[in-house]
Amino acid sequence: MTLEISPVATLQGDLRPPSDKSLTHRAYMFASIADGDSVVRMPLRGEDCESTLHCLIQLGLRHEWMSPSEIRLVPPREWQVPRGDLDCGNSGTTMRLMSGLLASRPLDVTLVGDASLSRRPMQRIAEPLRMMGATVEGDTAPLHIVGGQLRGIDYVSPVASAQIKSCVLLAGLGAEGVTSVREPSPSRDHTERMLRATGVRIEQNGAVSLAGGQRPHGFEITIPADISSAAFFLVAAAMLPQSSLAIHDLSMNPTRTGILDVLRQCGVPYELLGEREELGEPVSTLEIRAPKFLKPFEISGSLVPRLIDEIPVLAVLATQCEGTSVIRDARELRVKETDRIETVSTGLRAMGAEVETFEDGLAITGPTKLKAAQIDAAGDHRIGMAFAIAGLISDGGVKIDNAESIATSYPGFTDDLMRLAII
Ligand code: S3P
Repeated sequence: MTLEISPVATLQGDLRPPSDKSLTHRAYMFASIADGDSVVRMPLRGEDCESTLHCLIQLGLRHEWMSPSEIRLVPPREWQVPRGDLDCGNSGTTMRLMSGLLASRPLDVTLVGDASLSRRPMQRIAEPLRMMGATVEGDTAPLHIVGGQLRGIDYVSPVASAQIKSCVLLAGLGAEGVTSVREPSPSRDHTERMLRATGVRIEQNGAVSLAGGQRPHGFEITIPADISSAAFFLVAAAMLPQSSLAIHDLSMNPTRTGILDVLRQCGVPYELLGEREELGEPVSTLEIRAPKFLKPFEISGSLVPRLIDEIPVLAVLATQCEGTSVIRDARELRVKETDRIETVSTGLRAMGAEVETFEDGLAITGPTKLKAAQIDAAGDHRIGMAFAIAGLISDGGVKIDNAESIATSYPGFTDDLMRLAII
């Protein structure tokens, strides 16, 4: 699918972005291992989370849609052998966390994914699961897993990745003894919060540790909106003069709010209103306005995992900042749905931006009036949406090829954009 985006003057109005992807995946997975029924309201109906749900249904999770936005989930008494391979689609979270769930169960299962997911590194979860005693064949998909009795390990992860941490912790629930995970800097902590909120005892003192043999209680959750999806509109509002947006129901987990640190560096005025909590996760309304001019920003070190998925659209923001913005320590971008250092720099250069690339990041000097271009999203949802936002401020608009994957995380993206745009 080719998406065509024309320039607009400003963005104004109210937005409730789609529900949080990480939380929806985890809600489905926790419901499948809980000691009772669970209710998930407002789950993200994007393809990534639907992959998780379908895999779990094949393993025996029972479900009933009470309304289009409310699902009741009943955990299987015994996990069953799926009829065929489990298809994780485009979703790294599905494949990596599902592997952790499967590792302690006496099943023989093969996990497969689409072309992009089949290129992504799975050795990072296969290695700790093998150390715990599971059989995992394949360092990329297809992954063949034969689960069984696991033993707890003290795992020192070489990368700050919530997917690795969550995989090992979920496997640890079914292991004998204590499982601990340490990481070089803190990644998103949704799994830890959901464990605690559903009654699992965990310790956090540099490492995250839990004793095996515990089960989460059944729970109810209304999934808040995803800051990684809101990010496209936050950046658009920051760049388009006179913009003003109120973004509602936004998940404000501090391990995910790195983009707000960047907006502060750029001098973008925003305000948080009415904080509440949802199953251990902070939620707020955020109001944002366009500033008079944008200062450049720097991203490195422990800020990187707090905004890893937002870097493509922050790179677009950098093209409008007055000076050089620098992103370092972000090597992980190379193993996302595409090599995002490559896809971002190629697309921005095609639009006339001044971009330098490093093995672990980018330097972008602005401000540049972006010019019309045809961009290849290469099947990467966040690349597709980042360049749609670039199109809004361009001279003549953009055509984005291979943009259908936007539906993996943001099914109503163009509708929301059209509704808020003033031409
Ligand atoms: C996710 C963690 C991040 C993120 C991904 C979702 C999660 O990946 O990029 O979109 O739900 O745990 P890593 O933890 O591998 O960096």
